[in-house]
Amino acid sequence: MDKIVILDFGSQYNQLIARRVRELGVYSEVVPFNIDLEELKKPEVKGIILSGGPNSVYDDESPKISKELFDLKPVLGICYGMQLTQSMFGGKVSPSEKREYGKSTLRVLKENVILSDVKEESTVWMSHGDHVDKLSDDFELLGDTDSCFAVARHKTKPIYNLQFHPEVTHSEFGSQIISNFVLKVCAASQDWNMGNYIDKTVLEIRERVQDKHVILGLSGGVDSSVAAVLVHKAIGDQLTCIFVDTGLMRKDEGKKVMDLYGEHFHMNIKSVDAEDLFLDNLKGVKDPEAKRKIIGHDFIEVFNAEKEKMKDADFLAQGTIYPDVIESISIKGPSSTIKSHHNVGGLPEEMKFELIEPLRELFKDEVRQVGIELGIPEHMVMRHPFPGPGLGIRVIEEVTKDKVKILQEADDIFINALIDEGLYTKTSQAFVTLLPCKTVGVMGDNRTYEYVAAIRSVNTSDFMTAQFSRLPFDFLESVATKIINEVRGINRVVYDITSKPPGTIEWE
Ligand code: XMP
Repeated sequence: MDKIVILDFGSQYNQLIARRVRELGVYSEVVPFNIDLEELKKPEVKGIILSGGPNSVYDDESPKISKELFDLKPVLGICYGMQLTQSMFGGKVSPSEKREYGKSTLRVLKENVILSDVKEESTVWMSHGDHVDKLSDDFELLGDTDSCFAVARHKTKPIYNLQFHPEVTHSEFGSQIISNFVLKVCAASQDWNMGNYIDKTVLEIRERVQDKHVILGLSGGVDSSVAAVLVHKAIGDQLTCIFVDTGLMRKDEGKKVMDLYGEHFHMNIKSVDAEDLFLDNLKGVKDPEAKRKIIGHDFIEVFNAEKEKMKDADFLAQGTIYPDVIESISIKGPSSTIKSHHNVGGLPEEMKFELIEPLRELFKDEVRQVGIELGIPEHMVMRHPFPGPGLGIRVIEEVTKDKVKILQEADDIFINALIDEGLYTKTSQAFVTLLPCKTVGVMGDNRTYEYVAAIRSVNTSDFMTAQFSRLPFDFLESVATKIINEVRGINRVVYDITSKPPGTIEWE
């Protein structure tokens, strides 16, 4: 399969570059900037994109590449990638007086394939502290803004430079420019689609597994579910899924998982009821980090015990997805500062299996598409993320069976109301948190003294920053009323209007 390789210089936008290329139906990968040139010489690599990055090319420490790279394949340098190209070809890069951040107007000065179908004037998104103040003599200027050289091309080689970020949606013709590079300059073939991906992956899994056995920790979340159905499609009953019921899941989660994947997809699933273990070990524990550790530890213990019973399992399948992979290979820079959570379902170090990660090349929306193509119902595939430690961190302070039950009921009311009102897919993550304090209320003629529930709903694209959702007051009122009327144990509901930062999404 043809591919476009993106060299990672640390830009927070480089996953977006890969996504834009894939949206064109062309496979793309983000790799470290210092990748072996032999990799780039492979025939399937049709073009190279140099990403942006936080460094200054004139600093000794800044990431550099070999000039030989420019003779291998067509190259598109974006932002830092442009500055690096220019400095290597005799241009001059200096600090700007003021960092340019935000929208600018691009003027096309000269027609060229890279700018085909781009209007004479259009909006582009800038984010740079340095700029090129003398263009290399080998290059020709194709477009500018009031403050910088914006588009340039090498006079004889297929090397293009952009000072702005075409991958960001604010760049009006950004996708067009990426398309011009990928399809016209590199002539990459558009054979990346989820149908092909499923076929290719199924064959690879069969080839690797042969007649051996695979186990997979199925949580009911999108990634592990899609991974499970994909592996199952490849090897059927040679896959055994283990569903650890921690007692800290959403309402009826275990039943839903067993019904869908066990009954409907006919997968081998072993459901392990470990609620008592988890709740016993959480007794009296208030600190969220301590709770996380206990839950993670218990999970490994239960999973290990199940694994011991399956002596012939040689492979462990996992729902690792591409953003996790990029984060772990990324150079030091903004794009590498992201990882902060470990999935409880992650591979514990002491386990010695060969890994199968059938989704490790996919972005989340691609995982969802694969899920849909495999026949998983949309409501399961479009689910909001759910943290590994589950309700263990949504019951604030001590976790007890009663509190978990109260929270499950309240959360279920909120989520169903969002679905019924068509709001679920308009929010990125929504849930209820149970607070550890009681307040006074009146119901009928009686005084009540019960828990406070906090409703949280956020909108975000990356979960690193998030805005609270502007849910209609009438809707919030009806949810609050329903929770207070129907859930014994809650007599007050508040809505969390904190964005991230300064808040986090979970309360812990
Ligand atoms: P915060 O609370 O840090 O959460 O803003 C960001 C996102 O991460 C999710 N989250 C987790 N996901 N395992 C996960 O897989 C975890 O341990 C975990 N903790 C938080 C959280 O729900 C939100 O989507």
